[in-house]
Amino acid sequence: MIRLDLSPDQLLSTTRAVRKRLDLERPVEREALEECVALAMQAPNGGSVQGWHFVLITDESRKRAISDLYRKSKVKNDPGSTPPEHQAMMDSSAYLAEHLHEVPVLVVPCIEGRVENAPFIVQAATWGSILPATWSFMLAARARGLGTAWTSLHLEYEREAAEILAIPYERVMQVALIPVAYTIGTDFKPGPRLAMSDRVHWESWHQAAPGDQAD
Ligand SMILES: Cc1cc2nc3c(=O)[nH]c(=O)nc-3n(C[C@H](O)[C@H](O)[C@H](O)COP(=O)(O)O)c2cc1C
Repeated sequence: MIRLDLSPDQLLSTTRAVRKRLDLERPVEREALEECVALAMQAPNGGSVQGWHFVLITDESRKRAISDLYRKSKVKNDPGSTPPEHQAMMDSSAYLAEHLHEVPVLVVPCIEGRVENAPFIVQAATWGSILPATWSFMLAARARGLGTAWTSLHLEYEREAAEILAIPYERVMQVALIPVAYTIGTDFKPGPRLAMSDRVHWESWHQAAPGDQAD
């Protein structure tokens, strides 16, 4: 099994949304996936309830059925509304949509509970009890030479996906769909991000970072 020689900072800054560089031909070992899940289950979760579940799909017919739901959602996007700086991402997303059923493994992280009508704090605690684990799964995958991409489009048809995967929809929410495959090459760069000064608020929302001068 592969172990990339990445520092924690390199791992955190190079775990990217991988779509075109997913190796669709190379199988992913069950052992590697189980290691990633074991690490995901070390994530924080509200009250240590551990209501998380991970549905790992390798079966061709189920992968195709879930991918069809993903694509059904995708066609509702309006390509005309894409800003130019997002065009490469849209191309890459379109590639993933087209090939999703060919990706060796699709992972659906789930959490017990449905929050549509729950108080805000319950909603926050529920999402917050599965999203860190999902990201940990993706980081663990990257450390093993595996690429992932966080996706959400199939959730428009969550109920239909629940039927395909026999997930008890009334009491369990799906939160994402993560394609997993070995990456073509293992070198990834940090992603383009806003300047920290645009997004950091010291002490209060109105306070600029120490040292920043007002115009
Ligand atoms: C909540 C969430 C939903 C996303 N949904 C999709 C999706 O449905 N399809 C897709 O191709 N990428 C999806 N992405 C991936 C984002 O497009 C990607 O993380 C973003 O462009 C940054 O990419 P980078 O980390 O490689 O820089 C999603 C990411 C998040 C966090």
